[in-house]
Amino acid sequence: MRIDIITIFPEIFEGPFNHSIVKRAQEKGLVEIYLHQLRDYTSDKHHKVDDYAFSGGAGMVMMIEPVARVIEKLKSERAYDEIIYTSPDGELFDQPLANHLSTYENLIILCGHYKGIDERIREHFITKEISIGNYVLSGGELAAAVITDSLVRLLPGVLGNEVSALTDSFQNNLVSPPVYTRPRDFRGWKVPDILLSGNERLIEEWKFEQSVKRTQKRRPGLLEE
Ligand code: ADE
Repeated sequence: MRIDIITIFPEIFEGPFNHSIVKRAQEKGLVEIYLHQLRDYTSDKHHKVDDYAFSGGAGMVMMIEPVARVIEKLKSERAYDEIIYTSPDGELFDQPLANHLSTYENLIILCGHYKGIDERIREHFITKEISIGNYVLSGGELAAAVITDSLVRLLPGVLGNEVSALTDSFQNNLVSPPVYTRPRDFRGWKVPDILLSGNERLIEEWKFEQSVKRTQKRRPGLLEE
């Protein structure tokens, strides 16, 4: 999979993409992530990417020209499955959407900023708008990092079998069961006996029951779905 991210703050991605699973996936050649500085696609000497809204009102608006340039350049090089814009009013991101997007070859993610982007960008270039939750971030970069991370861990070969993404919370509309490690007893707080029993069938049954109970208690909406 290839992901092209268009942003005015490429540095924000250094942390999330240069550690742990996303880093290893890139090193193994399972995903290629390219960051494009939007300011490199401006025509004026100040590298201006925003301007006042025609309607007036507070806040600057991301201009169409640099966005058009970078997207058209990328599209001339390969076909893209989706051109995503991160925005608080987009479709809510969830595991089924992550699963779906992870099957694609090439994605562009445009990170929103300022008060919004010129509506013509959305009309003419964007094929999908995604929100990562009902709250407003100061920019789309963190949303793009979240989306990318959740896609990368789903790619074949990224996680070992023993930690397959299929056992993640939400994959079967259930949250994960509790897990424990050593010591067996910490200040009298004990690991459930069943997990030490060695009986695989009973352990699997216990985990499933715990998942269902936790889902009922914490996220009942998932069971209705
Ligand atoms: N940009 C600002 N807030 C956002 C959100 N909640 N999701 C995606 N992009 C955003």
